[in-house]
Amino acid sequence: MAEHITITEFLLKHVTGEHSLALTSMLKDIADACKKIALAIDQGALAGNMGSLASENVQGEVQKALDVITNDIFIETNQQSGYVAGMASEEMDDIIQIAEPQRQKGQYLLLFDPLDGSSNVNVNISVGTIFSILKSANAKPVLADFLQAGTEQICAGYALYGTSTMLVLTTGHGVNGFTLDVASGEFYLSHPEIKVPVDTQEFAINMSNYRFWQEPVQRYIDECLQGAEGIRKKDFNMRWVASMVAEVHRILVRGGVFMYPIDSKLQLKGGKLRLMYEANPMSFIIEQAGGAATTGIQRILEVHSNALHQRVPVMMGSRKEIERIAAYHSKKIAH
Ligand code: AHG
Ligand code: MN
Ligand code: MN
Repeated sequence: MAEHITITEFLLKHVTGEHSLALTSMLKDIADACKKIALAIDQGALAGNMGSLASENVQGEVQKALDVITNDIFIETNQQSGYVAGMASEEMDDIIQIAEPQRQKGQYLLLFDPLDGSSNVNVNISVGTIFSILKSANAKPVLADFLQAGTEQICAGYALYGTSTMLVLTTGHGVNGFTLDVASGEFYLSHPEIKVPVDTQEFAINMSNYRFWQEPVQRYIDECLQGAEGIRKKDFNMRWVASMVAEVHRILVRGGVFMYPIDSKLQLKGGKLRLMYEANPMSFIIEQAGGAATTGIQRILEVHSNALHQRVPVMMGSRKEIERIAAYHSKKIAH
């Protein structure tokens, strides 16, 4: 580790401005929650944390035991600072209002996906937690207070429970990554000022959906597959972990594009990934690291939010590639 700066030391020094006290305090709770989640995931089957439940969440997805365990940990731990007035989770139908006295200090909203990539849990592959922080207009927030565009986020981040546990976050001034030292239980700055490499030769998409995609996405992937013999004149590599956190982290470290586009199966839903606690926070991070994020036809951070669990097409990563994909959608680059 190049520098032994703890996450608390980092936040105290680098988070300035009107939200600094609140953000420092809330991020301390988030780091604590992620540590607890890392432990629950590490213990896995030994703690009886594996397997599916009989229940479904609001999205109609069968919940895993860890979906519920991580949701409970996140809600309970993040009430402690007193700055969070309301929360919203992938696993809860409705917003969660924080009662007095917990919400004395502030009017912040915490939106989260407690366990991202949950289909990976039973096969011991990386999963994550994603979060987004907004300011509420009301001390007692109602649904309308949550429905803000991604440009309004004051903080976003994710935890990746991978070969090591990492916390990566932005408060609108670049992106920094911290690695958990399990011996001391402390997150240390390990990846300062992360930048997405501009050029890439790697894409991430669930290829099994190829026949359902729209033409611009098929075109982009076809050209990648043609490699050095095609118009891109270089060979591409492909990865698909089925955990957005793991894919976005890989892109932050070595470049690439991540795509979960709309397809004919998803038409009625509007996409697969959720705007408020998946697409928006990841787009904020990617943009802050110099990358770009689009639905194909619109910057994700500018999408108007009309429902807590709204879904959107997602394409994000190295800027030049995302610009190319957007140009294919708007037909600005002819065949
Ligand atoms: P979640 O586990 O929170 O429902 O999210 C899973 C998401 C995302 O992380 C991943 O990129 C995608 O679903 C994988 O989808 P497929 O199984 O369709 O590939
Ligand atoms: Mn998810
Ligand atoms: Mn999830």
